Amino acid sequence: MQLSDEFLAAIDAEGGRFTPPHPPRRTAPIPFWKIMKLYRENIIAVFSENDFRRPIIHDRYLALDVFTVNDPALVQETFQTKHEIFQRKTPQMRHALAPLLGDGLFVSDSETWKRRRGAVGPIIHTSKVRSFSPLMCETAVEWREHWREMGDGAQVNVLAEMAELTAEIISRTVFGRRLGREHTGEIVAGFAEYQKHIDQMDLPSVLGLPDWFPRPRGLKVGRALRRVHGVIDDIVTRFEQGRGDAEAVIGQLFAAREEGADGLDREAIRNEAIVIFMAGHETTANTLAWAWYLISQSGRVRDKLHAELAEVLQGRAPEIDDVRRLTYTRAIIEETLRLYPPVPILGRQALADGDINGTQVKRGAVVMVSPFMLHRKPDLWSRPDEFIPERFDDRLTQRPSKYSYIPFAIGPRICPGLTFGLTEAILCLATLAQDFELELEPGHEVRTQCRLTLRPGDTLPMRLHRRAAAAEAPA
Ligand code: HEM
Repeated sequence: MQLSDEFLAAIDAEGGRFTPPHPPRRTAPIPFWKIMKLYRENIIAVFSENDFRRPIIHDRYLALDVFTVNDPALVQETFQTKHEIFQRKTPQMRHALAPLLGDGLFVSDSETWKRRRGAVGPIIHTSKVRSFSPLMCETAVEWREHWREMGDGAQVNVLAEMAELTAEIISRTVFGRRLGREHTGEIVAGFAEYQKHIDQMDLPSVLGLPDWFPRPRGLKVGRALRRVHGVIDDIVTRFEQGRGDAEAVIGQLFAAREEGADGLDREAIRNEAIVIFMAGHETTANTLAWAWYLISQSGRVRDKLHAELAEVLQGRAPEIDDVRRLTYTRAIIEETLRLYPPVPILGRQALADGDINGTQVKRGAVVMVSPFMLHRKPDLWSRPDEFIPERFDDRLTQRPSKYSYIPFAIGPRICPGLTFGLTEAILCLATLAQDFELELEPGHEVRTQCRLTLRPGDTLPMRLHRRAAAAEAPA
């Protein structure tokens, strides 16, 4: 995390410094209505310059107490030691996602969460990633072919391209190769429609109203829900009739039910399939889109990436065993996740009265940890806003402590798809960067935008350039 002065001076000497965009940090107090507006439109713009340096911040919005924890030891206390108190998702998150995910793992807590985590976690666990990796590799190679067909200089929306690529991978993983292919587009369109129309603000909770108080849901949200549930119900039925792939996640959930997993009825299986699809698709897509943007702006990083790909892969497409040798590619992904964690706010609601390092937190209060802010805390990181993948090179510096680098969260609710997502991102980037260099469309300004996840705006227009070395290499 802290790089040596010699190393930083060497980057300066070769003109290799690059600070990508982040929302402006306010330096003076702003009126309440402006804070509410930021919460709704781009929550990470709420933090002030000073907030980045503080260990814990307490705000009160109408009837709601909000504590933002911004220190590794306090993150450990909140998410690990005091998981029992701080495990519940915020009312905002639960009300926004429960219509889509039901009692799915992502929004549940306590006993339901424990049971579901026990059933789902092992299916996508690190030890299973090798068995899913051929799907990742073959889909990435299909994408390379698709880009080749578009021709040199083609303009693409990289955000949408990466969303389609990762949706295809997660779809084949969850539903199986054949069913995935048929249904990906419809599910992704349904998710996008849902995200666009839900309200993340949840005013009733800010006003102190209880969970049972009705939250009106617009007609468009209802339509999006019917779209997603319709497709997934159809797929689950096919599995029930024995027409699904046993290796697919849904097949494994049915097998877990046969083996006696508690509470895994049909609806639970449907909900968990949606959770995995949702949690495992846009996160990796945004990571890859940001990585393409960052690489395009740093010739220094791009050259080192291409040198590694040439040396390790010698012109062939990567496979799972290459991942541990693609150390710089991995460092680029890890640095991308530091600067732009796809889930930039981890929100919880206290299930009981408690404290964080002596600060009293009453039952019902909201506790947030922002990986976005923690990953840019000046006393933890050298030049925190700059793009320097070498911070994750074990030969140059110590790895960051597990409570200061948390793109996958930490504690019992840590992302169970961590190794899946990292491996997928490394394999996709390596496969495509071997062949292509991407150039940001001149004049396009990249903005950090946070809806449910952190993205480089609504669109990321870039041009595909076939690399000369790749054009000469065997197909
Ligand atoms: C770069 C990719 C990914 C990132 C950055 C990421 C990040 C996260 C984060 C931060 C959480 C915790 C959210 C919270 O506590 O509020 C989470 C939860 C989760 N993720 Fe991921 N994720 C990624 C990929 C994946 C993939 C590929 C899968 C599935 C194959 C997956 C499945 C899940 C599930 C099921 C949960 C809920 C866990 C629980 O609540 O116990 N994620 N992820």
